[in-house]
Amino acid sequence: MRRREYGNLLGMLGVPNKDAEVKIQQYESLLEEIQQTNQKLFRAQLTVHVYGGTQDDVKSKTSEVIRLFSGMNGAEMHDERYGSVVPIFLSTLPGWTKESSRWILLKTLHLADLLPCFKEFHGSGKGETVFFNTTQGLVSYDPFANDLPAFNSILIGATGTGKSFLVNQIINQYSKNDPIEVFIDIGGSYRRQVLLKGGDYISLGLKEKFTINLFDLPAKKKFRDFDNEAQNEIVVIKTKIIEQMIGKTSRFAQSDQIVEDLISRSIRFLYRAVDYPILSDYKLALIQVAESNDQWKPFVDQIVGLLGIWLEGGQFGSFTDGKSTLSLDKSIVCFDLKGLENQRLQTMMLTIITNFVWGKFMSERGRRKLLILDECWKLLSSPESASFIAEAFRTFRKYGAGAISVTQSLSDFTKGGLEDAILGNAHTRFILRQNSAPSLQSIVNYFKFNTQEKHLIESLQMKKGEGSEVFFSQSKGLKPISGKMVIYPTPIEYWVATTDALDLDHYEKVKAENPKLDMYKIVKKCAEDYPNGVSYGK
Ligand SMILES: Nc1ncnc2c1ncn2[C@@H]1O[C@H](COP(=O)(O)OP(=O)(O)OP(=O)(O)O)[C@@H](O)[C@H]1O
Ligand SMILES: [Mg+2]
Repeated sequence: MRRREYGNLLGMLGVPNKDAEVKIQQYESLLEEIQQTNQKLFRAQLTVHVYGGTQDDVKSKTSEVIRLFSGMNGAEMHDERYGSVVPIFLSTLPGWTKESSRWILLKTLHLADLLPCFKEFHGSGKGETVFFNTTQGLVSYDPFANDLPAFNSILIGATGTGKSFLVNQIINQYSKNDPIEVFIDIGGSYRRQVLLKGGDYISLGLKEKFTINLFDLPAKKKFRDFDNEAQNEIVVIKTKIIEQMIGKTSRFAQSDQIVEDLISRSIRFLYRAVDYPILSDYKLALIQVAESNDQWKPFVDQIVGLLGIWLEGGQFGSFTDGKSTLSLDKSIVCFDLKGLENQRLQTMMLTIITNFVWGKFMSERGRRKLLILDECWKLLSSPESASFIAEAFRTFRKYGAGAISVTQSLSDFTKGGLEDAILGNAHTRFILRQNSAPSLQSIVNYFKFNTQEKHLIESLQMKKGEGSEVFFSQSKGLKPISGKMVIYPTPIEYWVATTDALDLDHYEKVKAENPKLDMYKIVKKCAEDYPNGVSYGK
């Protein structure tokens, strides 16, 4: 109300009106503030809807809400119920468009307090894979979004928080694009996923006879069929593998560069001399090349000696020296290293398989490729193996390939030279529930997550059989994206991915009782028996 109107009022009554004077002053200062601070006045109404099973329940909840509300700095609240003033009750309904009469005037600043700026998380990129956000909306994720500098991602979570389960869901959905999928695992998490899609599941065990020849080239081509750039890449990768086979190149002290030079020149020499070489041929190449240079001669015996365990007749020679007995013809393959037991052999095999996979990725241009390394990081802690992985991962984007690296602890990546290779290239991170404050803090510190992001990670929930929450963070140049996504599997998805011991027992039981059923039908039956897994709700 304007000063003039108050003045008129006072004049008419001819008496000083203290209330009116105070009001005028208040209005004056309000108008002044609004002008100075560039705010506006809004009509606003705040409605709280109270739900309950019975009318009495609603009544008692309403009294409680009103009591709490009036405890807040003298705020007032009215109980509007059907049967009192009907138009006012109706105006409180969501979506009601007629003006209500319960509004009050609020300044921009105060109104802003009642309108928390909240935007639901919708993910990043095209909906190549789709999950949920915390309000049941959809979240998208495209592992090969064009604006990503590299397609590698990492997944970190405490044991049993759903890491392998999440990878299963991502790959399952992405499969519609017919990518090449290679899994390297130590423990069977991808078995049904791979077999259901008609892929090769290769359990590498000490008892099984198999050989992988590290000198095999993509598509059975010869070295000379590749262009210069590819030839250089091949030599670099194979050099790193040989270095890993002989153990620490640091044992050659000041001469490690000379040794590296000898190793890589012998690889070139080998490929020129033999069309389809194996490791024994390489031994001969080393000896022959070393003959040509006095600087190399002192090292050749030692290198050949160190290669001994990988050469025919050596402890692991049957796995590494000879023509490959495995083929990578299928588009979907899983190597399970569990049966190898011996850590040295596991590490070497991991390297040789990655080399094998790298060759396959190199030869199939035009298709997307995914390599999943699930908890293999302990095997890659030596500088030589880390350097190999770094080299392989560095070239991935060029071949349209992405690696998903899964681990329980960030420290697996920050030590042993893996940091640049894995973390430097991983622009997408999935963080699952952490089970200790230090591991949470180290993740927050490493990725420089802000307080809000830290709270999101702290609040991650996992309900076995029902769903698990994941913190997603992606760095895309100047536009980092982060938010919480929820993985709700359908019963079939659950049974494809579960690693729970009781679930697996049930699966085996159904399989034994129904020998005629194929894998999909067994999974389907399990999903009908226990849509959320055997132990859900127990
Ligand atoms: N999103 C989910 N919804 C329902 N159940 C889930 C979900 N994620 C995981 N689980 C349940 O939790 C179990 C353990 O998950 P998973 O094997 O993926 O854990 P992990 O983090 O890979 O553990 P580990 O460190 O032992 O490899 C699954 O077998 C499944 O039963
Ligand atoms: Mg796992």
